[in-house]
Amino acid sequence: MNLTRTPEPELMDSATEADDYDRMDFSEVNALFVHDARAFFGPVRSLLDVGTGTGRIPLAFVAGGLPKTFVAVDAAPAMLARAEVNRRNTPGAEAISFVEGDAAALAFDAGAFAAVMSNSLVHHLARPVAFFRELARVCATGGRLFVRDLARPDSAELVDALTDAYAAVPADAQGEDRDRFTRQRHLFHASLHAAYTVDEVRTMAAYAGLLDGDVRMTSDRHWTLTWTNS
Ligand SMILES: C[S@@+](CC[C@H](N)C(=O)[O-])C[C@H]1O[C@@H](n2cnc3c(N)ncnc32)[C@H](O)[C@@H]1O
Repeated sequence: MNLTRTPEPELMDSATEADDYDRMDFSEVNALFVHDARAFFGPVRSLLDVGTGTGRIPLAFVAGGLPKTFVAVDAAPAMLARAEVNRRNTPGAEAISFVEGDAAALAFDAGAFAAVMSNSLVHHLARPVAFFRELARVCATGGRLFVRDLARPDSAELVDALTDAYAAVPADAQGEDRDRFTRQRHLFHASLHAAYTVDEVRTMAAYAGLLDGDVRMTSDRHWTLTWTNS
C-alpha cells in the first residue's frame, strides 16, 4: 500500500531554517539540475526560478553564462535575505534579481519568460495545480518549463533508507554541528513524506492544462516535469 502524504509547512521563514537549508550540501543535485535545465531550455533571453530559496540554483548558473533577464522568486523573506548575501559573494551574479512573491500568484505578465524552472518547491504546496497553472501562464509561447522535486517513496522503510543514504549525520560531528546535521536529517525525512508521487504530479499537471508535459523519475528520489508551451 502507498505511503500517505504528510504535509510540511509551506514557507521556510526563520533565520535558522534559512541558515540550515543554505548549509546543506546540494552541490551535486544543483549542478545536475542546472545541467539538465540548460540542456532542455537551450539559449534563452529570460529565465524565472520559482521557490528559489537561498538562490543556490540561480548562482550555479553564473559559471555557464546568464540570460539577459534572470528573476528568482520566493515567498520567505529570510530565504531571500540569505540569497542576497550569497549573490553579493558570487562574482558575475549582478544580473540576478531576487524578488518576494507567491508561486501561485506571480506578479508577472502572461508570457513574460522564455524559460521557467523550479526545484524542490512542489512538496511544500497544498495546491500544486494552481502553481503549475501559474508557471504555464508566465511562460511565453514556445517557452519551456522545467520542474523537479522529491518523489514520495512507497513505504516508510524506503523513506528511512533514502534518509540514511542522503542525509546521514556524520559519525564525527560534534556539538552545534551535530545538532544542525540532525535538523537537516529531519528536514529531508519530512520532505520525503510531504512529497508527491510521480503519478500524483502527472495528474495535477494534466489538471493544470500541461497535457503534453512529460513527468518521469529522474533519480532514485526525484521526478522531473518538462513542458513546452507550443
Ligand atoms: C526546499 S526549498 C528549495 C529552494 C531552492 N529551489 C533550492 O533548490 O535550493 C523550498 C522553497 O520554496 C519556498 N516556498 C514555499 N512555498 C512557496 C510559495 N507559495 N511561493 C514561493 N515560494 C515558496 C520556501 O520558502 C523555500 O525557500
